[in-house]
Amino acid sequence: MGRGHPRRFYFASSFVLLVSLLVTFYVWRYAEQGTGALLVGLVSGALLWGILYSLVLFLAKEMTKRLRRSEEKLRRITDAIPGTVYQYRLESNGRQSFLFVSRGAKDLFGVSAEDLERDFQSGWNLLLTEDVPALQKSIRISAETLKPWVHEFRIKTPAGRIKWIRGSSVPERPLKDGSIVWNGLFVDITDRQHLERRVIQSEKMAAVGQLASGVAHEINNPLGVILGFAQTAAKHVSPGNLLEMPLRSIEREALRCKDLVQNLLAFSRAGKTEQEPCNLNEVVETALSLVAAQTKVKKVELVKKLHPCLPTVFANKTQLQQVVINLSNNAVDAMPNGGRLTILTQWTVWDDKEAVEIQVQDTGAGIPKEIQPRIFEPFFTTKEASKGTGLGLALAYEIVEKHGGYMTVDSEPGKGSIFRVCLPVKEIGR
Ligand SMILES: Nc1ncnc2c1ncn2[C@@H]1O[C@H](COP(=O)(O)OP(=O)(O)O)[C@@H](O)[C@H]1O
Ligand SMILES: [Mg+2]
Repeated sequence: MGRGHPRRFYFASSFVLLVSLLVTFYVWRYAEQGTGALLVGLVSGALLWGILYSLVLFLAKEMTKRLRRSEEKLRRITDAIPGTVYQYRLESNGRQSFLFVSRGAKDLFGVSAEDLERDFQSGWNLLLTEDVPALQKSIRISAETLKPWVHEFRIKTPAGRIKWIRGSSVPERPLKDGSIVWNGLFVDITDRQHLERRVIQSEKMAAVGQLASGVAHEINNPLGVILGFAQTAAKHVSPGNLLEMPLRSIEREALRCKDLVQNLLAFSRAGKTEQEPCNLNEVVETALSLVAAQTKVKKVELVKKLHPCLPTVFANKTQLQQVVINLSNNAVDAMPNGGRLTILTQWTVWDDKEAVEIQVQDTGAGIPKEIQPRIFEPFFTTKEASKGTGLGLALAYEIVEKHGGYMTVDSEPGKGSIFRVCLPVKEIGR
């Protein structure tokens, strides 16, 4: 409430007093009464003024109280709504501001409602740069059509957390100066987004699993025959024979197909995890012994930072080895001119519970931001047909998921990538 109101009432009441004095004075002059009548007039005028003044003051106070009560009620309601209620204004010169922001903003954006109301830029700065053009376009469309605005975008909170936000609001009719005001709500949909992505991923995995069990078995046997005959024939041709090269090619390609089939079969088995207590460092060591030869050839330095006393995890050893091998192979592929492959194991906390983490870091090419969301998809590869199947990460993801863990990637093009695998520590017997 503005502080101008009481002052206005003083003016109004002084005006009333003045008028009543004047009226009394004129009545006295024209009626040519004595001073007694003047006094009576003055007193009754003052009384009239007093009554009017108290009445006006009482009404004003009552109105202020009611307004404050309804404002408080509105605040309580908007504060209780999960998310942030807001009123946003776009002026015809393009200037933007929040006219009102509910207190939920602090939880949602990590920036207080007061800061957002005072400085619109403090909210705008949270947006991920790549999401800005689409957001601007959606606001423009809503302003032009005056249709409700609904948009999903990402922010990075001051604490560094990436969140998915869904904004929805309804524009009011444009004001005389051309500015438009929207009333709406922002909500956090990060969990839903992750869940959706996981559902899509598991649907794809299920499809691949079905495909795998159906086709892989069929291919496996004839492939074995091709490979066997090619190897036997290659052994019997003398060096320099014209047939040597074609036979070696058949053998090499058949081996590659076998790899693919093995991967597909691994998919159909990923669901059936026979788990046993295992030491993560041993798993990593075994996997690395299989990768070591390749790292030497590619001039990749292998660095191990294994925590000496990790808690035992319940897992399928062969599958976890597969995860480390797949991640390491990708890391080596990403460093065609050499580099450093670091494998790290450590304790960590996940959802307030004890967990263990494996990190596979490389100093390679990195992964462009636009393809990062796709790398875990089955058959997604950027490698030429003879080098990549696009199944390595999809399989690793599936295995980690089946173990109740999660896998994330952090990558910067030109600098390298870090793949993190986090596994819960389940106490044996639970
Ligand atoms: N460490 C890494 N560095 C750079 N790019 C990577 C890395 N790991 C995975 N990728 C990208 O992810 C894609 C999918 O990987 P993956 O599923 O293992 O299939 P593939 O290795 O057969 O291509 C790769 O083609 C590559 O573009
Ligand atoms: Mg791979």
